Amino acid sequence: MLQDRRILLIISGGIAAYKSLELIRRLRERGAAVRCIMTAAAEHFVTPLSVASLSEDKVYTDLWSLTDESEMGHIRLSREADLVVVAPASADLIARMATGLADDLATTALLASDKPVLIAPTMNLMMWAHPATQANLATIEARGVKRIGPGSGELACGEVGSGRMAEPLEIVVAIERILAGAARLAEKRALVTSGPTREPIDPVRYISNHSSGKQGHAIAAALAALGADTVLVSGPTQEPSPAGVRVVPVETAAEMLAACEAVLPVDVAVMAAAVADWRVETATGHKLKKDIGAPPVLRLAENPDILASIAQRGNDRPALVIGFAAETENVVENARRKRLRKQCDWILANDVSPGTDTFGGDRNTVHLVDADGIEAWPVMTKREVADRLAERIAQHLGVSCPRGS
Ligand code: C5P
Repeated sequence: MLQDRRILLIISGGIAAYKSLELIRRLRERGAAVRCIMTAAAEHFVTPLSVASLSEDKVYTDLWSLTDESEMGHIRLSREADLVVVAPASADLIARMATGLADDLATTALLASDKPVLIAPTMNLMMWAHPATQANLATIEARGVKRIGPGSGELACGEVGSGRMAEPLEIVVAIERILAGAARLAEKRALVTSGPTREPIDPVRYISNHSSGKQGHAIAAALAALGADTVLVSGPTQEPSPAGVRVVPVETAAEMLAACEAVLPVDVAVMAAAVADWRVETATGHKLKKDIGAPPVLRLAENPDILASIAQRGNDRPALVIGFAAETENVVENARRKRLRKQCDWILANDVSPGTDTFGGDRNTVHLVDADGIEAWPVMTKREVADRLAERIAQHLGVSCPRGS
């Protein structure tokens, strides 16, 4: 399955760089073409000569090499691969990826790449556990970067704990899975809504809710990772835009509905936004003043139900329309009723009762309700929920599962 696939391997500075040499061998013996970039720090651990010999290709190290730029160019270097693998991925390189730096060839190629990225981190256990590293990882993973490891065990620094780079064969398996999955939804178009909506009261005030957009953004990232042409219509959130996804920013429910309709036709629509149920009927064009005597009375009007209107469209109804139901009690029963009322195909019912930490948190407790019944999913991270949902969508749309995933 790796025959003639093109891997761009970025080797950063870490004692585990010696394992990258074996990774190159394993990839080459499976027929993959491996082109390597080494950071300056990596050259302290393995030599460009070893890397070039094993990859049977030129090794790229310098952003400013006139010869390299005229022969290849860093943009082509990043685009000509099917997959970018960073192994080892040091704390420093992960931090530079999170910040979007382009201060050497490795980070420039990563920034210019539109291909899936897999990282195999390795570092001292305290560096790994440091909130800065964990925040950087969360940032790049939210953008769609995949990660393998690190594992636990004895580290080169003599300490024992989390920080060992995954073994070369484990990385090969992860590469095979990503490449097998990457094209599964290649012919499909997906629409995802995410985040809250903001309904203006006047030019400076609005009605909104606590939705973080984490689940919706993760779903868009997961669908894009399977190759779907994905549009994410999102209310205001702090979440980074997922890689390979076209983001349409909106504020109000009315704007969200119009943006969704403009994206049709699609094969699948996943409505994960927390759309405000009401808007202020007549938002004023000027800031409301306190000195008008009595406090203002806001008359509310009902917002359009985006999920229901997409699910009830005629010719251009998506083949699969999926809604969410945030519930605090009778989670499944309410979701079942909501599915019928809105006429969507699946509802992901999530328990948002106090203590579940679903709103704004990283975990989600989900039941999938469809015409056949209910499926209870274990408590998972929002990213895991997104991956599982994307997998189910691919199966439903008749795209068969790759071997080994
Ligand atoms: O009716 P309720 O808000 O509980 O339904 C939740 C589901 O409906 C979510 O999928 C949400 O994105 C969608 N929804 C919508 N437009 C609305 C209200 C909810 O698309 N106005």
